[in-house]
Amino acid sequence: MKVGIIGLGYVGLPLAVAFAEAGADVVGVDADSRKVERLRRSKSDVEDIASDRLREVAPRFTATTEHEHLGGCDAVLICVPTPLANQREPDLSYIVDSATALSGVLRKDQLVVLESTTYPGTTRERLRPILEESGLAAGRDFHLAFSPERIDPGRTDHTIRTTPKVVGGLTDACRDRAVALYEVVCDDVVAVSTPEAAELAKLLENIFRSVNIALVNELAILCDRMAIDVWEVVEAASTKPFGFMRFDPGPGMGGHCLPVDPFYLAFKAREYDFPTEFIELAGKINQNQPHFCVEKIQRALNDVAKPVKGSRVLILGMAYKGGVADMRESPALKITHLLRELGADVAYHDPHVAEVAELGLSSGELDAELRASDVACIVTAHPEVDYRHVVEAAPLVVDFRGVTQGIEAENLVRL
Ligand SMILES: NC(=O)c1ccc[n+]([C@@H]2O[C@H](COP(=O)([O-])OP(=O)(O)OC[C@H]3O[C@@H](n4cnc5c(N)ncnc54)[C@H](O)[C@@H]3O)[C@@H](O)[C@H]2O)c1
Repeated sequence: MKVGIIGLGYVGLPLAVAFAEAGADVVGVDADSRKVERLRRSKSDVEDIASDRLREVAPRFTATTEHEHLGGCDAVLICVPTPLANQREPDLSYIVDSATALSGVLRKDQLVVLESTTYPGTTRERLRPILEESGLAAGRDFHLAFSPERIDPGRTDHTIRTTPKVVGGLTDACRDRAVALYEVVCDDVVAVSTPEAAELAKLLENIFRSVNIALVNELAILCDRMAIDVWEVVEAASTKPFGFMRFDPGPGMGGHCLPVDPFYLAFKAREYDFPTEFIELAGKINQNQPHFCVEKIQRALNDVAKPVKGSRVLILGMAYKGGVADMRESPALKITHLLRELGADVAYHDPHVAEVAELGLSSGELDAELRASDVACIVTAHPEVDYRHVVEAAPLVVDFRGVTQGIEAENLVRL
């Protein structure tokens, strides 16, 4: 079996390696020639894929910038970005570009699966017509399906093999073909009746998270006002063995998925004159969270008689979540911008992010930065950082992640 993967990022690279490890020949196509060059030297940009694993599959894995190589594949999986454009409408240009390139080499009996997160109808209404420019008909000459990716970068307890994979095909034959493909790398493949059901299932998963995070973030602000420890409340509620699922408050939502995907559904719903109020409200609350964090930092400094202007603020953790280097939509960026607007001198330490070009900053040495700071703010908690030491070494600490629970100290403020 020969599998083609378009887009070798957080989603595409782990899939490429999984298929190669299962014995398939894999052709990975990426538009980024530097990434392709690194992959050819078995250098991985994705934390979950160690370079050792790339070296082991090297005989069966070819990275290229040329879509022409996809013509010889039995199946092609599209794993390109689906960001938002300026007015928060879906930007499908990456899907359109890769589909256009694929249609030029598409051949009879191939299976094409879209993995990128998107609104219901994309596979049928947007992808299908572009692929059919090849002169081949979907469902008759080639198979077409949608299967959303559930990968959670940095996570080790659930893998591609153990995470059930949802698949919806344009026809029953398309579905069966896609199910058979994914069964090579995944123990539990869940077939649904249409690509639309699979597309919407993925959005439901992410909207569920976004709404629940917004709920605890709002509760955190209320707790702040009522002087109740929100972490203690969440901890206590989480002891209920049924009917409750734990979500933690924090500095706001980041990453490629949660701040973006819900708006894909809101966009499509407008076509049906349907306002998605939960989505909008959750987005509004989560986007406000960095502003609340800055207010909290401001108050903490005020309590020790310091203004934000001229204070040295150390941000601990620039990535959007612990254990990864991914900076996309990271709330730490927003917090830094807001602090700078107030005149703060911002520095950061992040063991995963060496520099942030858009801020003109690079990660400082932890102890030196703690000593130089007026306040250290735990925005993203990485497993490598000793937060007890942070509380001991910094003059003032504001913790937005709850990692200092159990530590009592005069210089410590928690969300
Ligand atoms: N990152 C996650 O945790 C995650 C989880 C589930 C689903 N998703 C979804 O999967 C999709 C991909 O996300 P990602 O995080 O892997 O993105 P990414 O940015 O890490 O990787 C995408 C890759 O596609 C390449 N690319 C762009 N246009 C191309 C083209 N025309 N031809 C070939 N390569 C092209 C880019 O160079 C990049 O390497 C998105 O729709 C995302 O919403 C992401």
